[in-house]
Amino acid sequence: MARRAPLDSATDCNGFAPLAGKHLLGIEGLDRPCVEALLERADAFADLPPRARLDHLNGLTVFTVFFENSTRTRVSFDLAARKIGASVVNVPISTSSIKKGESLLDTALTLNAMHPDILVMRHPNAGAALLLANYVDAAVVNAGDGRHEHPTQALLDALTIRRRLGRIEGLNITICGDITNSRVARSNIHLLSILGANLRLVAPPTLVPPQISAMGVECYHDMAAGLAGADIVMLLRLQQERMQGAETPSQREYFHLYGLTAEKLALAKAEALIMHPGPMNRGVEISSELADDVERSLITAQVEIGVAVRMACLESLGAPLLGRAQ
Ligand code: NCD
Repeated sequence: MARRAPLDSATDCNGFAPLAGKHLLGIEGLDRPCVEALLERADAFADLPPRARLDHLNGLTVFTVFFENSTRTRVSFDLAARKIGASVVNVPISTSSIKKGESLLDTALTLNAMHPDILVMRHPNAGAALLLANYVDAAVVNAGDGRHEHPTQALLDALTIRRRLGRIEGLNITICGDITNSRVARSNIHLLSILGANLRLVAPPTLVPPQISAMGVECYHDMAAGLAGADIVMLLRLQQERMQGAETPSQREYFHLYGLTAEKLALAKAEALIMHPGPMNRGVEISSELADDVERSLITAQVEIGVAVRMACLESLGAPLLGRAQ
């Protein structure tokens, strides 16, 4: 089991900066020591009492800029930034000049002129966070770019598993659903591979990207085969907004073939746990009964641990700007 940092180290940020001076654009390219340092730090933050407030990023300003809808990710970043002492500006895109035709680059330059220290952005286009990082002085955190990556979601998924099962190495983890359109799947495939899990994907043939075997994961189109022996079953939403045409059968048929029910879960290990990044569609990728099963579902724990993970990521990017870590 990974060592848990003692609680008082969460209140001292000297020397903690695994992402120092950079951005957090994706999991691809991060190494195991960096990922483990972030998880260790987040683990310590997760043990703090819910009302704890830290001053590690006092004086820094975090902008959140969401070009796609979000409930948990946006609130989680906002809360995490405040809990660690930063000021937060939520840039209201739906009422912004983007709606008057301003390009992403012009918006970036406008925001840059107001000197944010950290910019957290979600955008429908893959690569948007990287583009932004090239034009602003702030550290950029990718909160989801199209189908590409969603690094903090993968980190919070990993920490949720680690806190519940004590390890990730050697676990059988099955990711089931719309792999093609999911940035959560892509970031998790990178991260859980770095951490030594045995990964399997289950999806209809139309929802698996052709290059997936190059990522070193086993892929199944049949739930029975994909779920056998699983310790964790991670479900994904059908991302209708990114689909081009008729990639899926009807929702009813999808639920019949790929929706997780108690009957299908019985094919996994007896104590297998369920995860979902949310938002979930009951009766499509998961039965309502399982979604509410507090013994088997980690879905609420994922949301809770997300705040601690984002605190660790923001601290890692922000503390060096204050000269508190190199
Ligand atoms: C995911 C996302 O936006 O990529 N949600 C999230 O951040 N918790 C998954 C989804 O939208 O289905």
